[in-house]
Amino acid sequence: MTMKLLTVLVFLVVCFAYYGFCEKLSYSGYKIIRTYPENEEQWEAVRSWEERGVDLFSGNREYANLLVPPQLLGKLNESMIENGIRTSVEVEDVKRIIDMEKVNEDKIVEGRLEWDRYYTLADVHQFLEDQAAIHNTIASTFVVGMTYEGRNMTAIRISKSGETRPAIWIDANIHAREWITGAVCTYIIDQLLNSNETEIQSWLDDYDFYILPITNPDGYEFTHTTDRFWRKSRSHNGSPVNCMGTDLNRNFDFHWMENGGASSNPCSNTFAGTAPFSDSEAASVRDFLTSISSRLVFYLSLHSAGQYILFPTGFDATPIPQYNTYMSIGNLAAEAHGVRHGTNFTAGSVYNLMYTATGSSMDWTWSALGANLTLTYELRDKGEFGHLLPPDQIYPSATEFMDGLKVIIAELSNGIPDVDP
Ligand SMILES: *[C@@H]1O[C@H](CO)[C@@H](O)[C@H](O)[C@H]1NC(C)=O
Ligand SMILES: *[C@@H]1O[C@H](CO)[C@@H](O)[C@H](O)[C@H]1NC(C)=O
Ligand SMILES: *[C@@H]1O[C@H](CO)[C@@H](O)[C@H](O)[C@H]1NC(C)=O
Ligand SMILES: *[C@@H]1O[C@H](CO)[C@@H](O)[C@H](O)[C@H]1NC(C)=O
Ligand SMILES: *[C@@H]1O[C@H](CO)[C@@H](O)[C@H](O)[C@H]1NC(C)=O
Repeated sequence: MTMKLLTVLVFLVVCFAYYGFCEKLSYSGYKIIRTYPENEEQWEAVRSWEERGVDLFSGNREYANLLVPPQLLGKLNESMIENGIRTSVEVEDVKRIIDMEKVNEDKIVEGRLEWDRYYTLADVHQFLEDQAAIHNTIASTFVVGMTYEGRNMTAIRISKSGETRPAIWIDANIHAREWITGAVCTYIIDQLLNSNETEIQSWLDDYDFYILPITNPDGYEFTHTTDRFWRKSRSHNGSPVNCMGTDLNRNFDFHWMENGGASSNPCSNTFAGTAPFSDSEAASVRDFLTSISSRLVFYLSLHSAGQYILFPTGFDATPIPQYNTYMSIGNLAAEAHGVRHGTNFTAGSVYNLMYTATGSSMDWTWSALGANLTLTYELRDKGEFGHLLPPDQIYPSATEFMDGLKVIIAELSNGIPDVDP
């Protein structure tokens, strides 16, 4: 082996091990392949590709989308045919869609965002500081905690009561690559502070809001600098092959690592962490929510994609005591979300609609804190662009989201029973 080749190899190994030293990944030649496994054996065959460098990207109980590097496309095709698994091409040219995304390059002036582009972490934090300064009698920023890499988890509180009213918590981008979620979240903040709609303004007379648009700042920053598809935190977890990061939405202490609802493999995208709350981001959210738990009436977490309105649990099929209440609120919200653009949202439990998922922030908040209402959204779309939702869909996503949020808050104000009547 020549020295040059060796150098290249060493560079590649280091590069894969510590992504941070690499160029931004271009995803040239990658495709997103949708697979339709029909039995446990076929699911196993699909899942086994994760160990071979294929990202199990998104999906539910009916299909799994795989992010496939060019050099594996042929082998993957063969294997799917061998196993009798139906496939289709979801995204023909991943790089082309990444290139369509627009990230803001202008300076943020007086907290004004445009919902036709995505923003960096610094811009989102600037927006929060500016809005808090403009509305300083009712709004202020606060730091929920520090990330593994030492960044602030900056949030905004909006309270006319001196923090004595029922509390609503909203978070987004706990999964770094789900950019649409932070974008919709900033729109919610903007509407709470700047909208002229009397209905929205009346919420501030009834509730205190605590909103964390970027729950995973290290991961979010990494999606801008290096790997657009990064999902997890950026913690080192002792993996011998230097796989990094914990799926923060599997790191909460609700049936942690039970029932196949998360992975113990540090290289997996659903790695649950080394223990419940092993990652500081999850522990910080836990501590803050606990501090407001006596007032916490509504916990809302924004994810993408799939267009689902999800409620507890992701652990098993046992219906929660408020199942019918949640289902009816979800259906009413779905109807409202669809009015503007016909977008089809579907309501149900995580377990029923998506897959088994344990250790989520919602399930923990529901069970440990007994918040009256706990919802997780999967925003647009249904897989066509997935995590790469084009910027011209930000504004329609945000406005249709507000339509359903109005229904939910109206239902909340009627009271959420502990058990179905
Ligand atoms: C794999 O199959 C898809 C269709 O499912 C096709 O578009 C693609 O070209 C195939 N790739 C290779 C390398 O054979
Ligand atoms: C983090 O938050 C603290 C407290 O608000 C602030 O003093 C500090 O400047 C922030 N750090 C960064 C990097 O923004
Ligand atoms: C609210 O009303 C003011 C005054 O009419 C207007 O300048 C502002 O643009 C309106 N804000 C929104 C968000 O529509
Ligand atoms: C909306 O989605 C649900 C569940 O995926 C499906 O059953 C229904 O047919 C869809 N409705 C429309 C109008 O597409
Ligand atoms: C939330 O639950 C508490 C305790 O059960 C109850 O007192 C309160 O009225 C409920 N609030 C709402 C908005 O349902």
